[in-house]
Amino acid sequence: MRVWLVSDHAGYALKSHLRTYLKARYDVIDVGPFSEESTDYPQWVHRLMVEFDPTQRAILICGTGNGVCMTANRYPQVRAALAWNPEIARLARAHNDANVLCLPGRFLTPQEAEAIVDVFFATPFEGGRHERRIAQINPPTCC
Ligand code: RB5
Repeated sequence: MRVWLVSDHAGYALKSHLRTYLKARYDVIDVGPFSEESTDYPQWVHRLMVEFDPTQRAILICGTGNGVCMTANRYPQVRAALAWNPEIARLARAHNDANVLCLPGRFLTPQEAEAIVDVFFATPFEGGRHERRIAQINPPTCC
């Protein structure tokens, strides 16, 4: 499994922690940023999407997780889910087949984020009725 990471300044510390946490188990690609200098989250998400493989995973972190999630979900091949606890992360995989995890860097401890990421990677998509529903997410005129 390949995992792309990006953040902004508000998610930088958690991104650095998760890069170390994940690198023993996954092929981790940290797209940036590489300092805590103030920066604009959409730029980093767009940069990641140039190389993102939607069959793999990405983790996007900003202060609330909302900005990176909104940006990522503009891409039709992306199902990005904001998760602030493990159960929401589990349901994002099981019901929504999320391929991108968005985390609120200002509201999670490193240990809380580890638990969320672990569940996100461990949970398979349930398929069935959820397959039908995710097929309806993109607007009819799109893609
Ligand atoms: C940066 O201050 C903050 O606005 C950003 O990290 C994010 O929370 C936006 O959604």
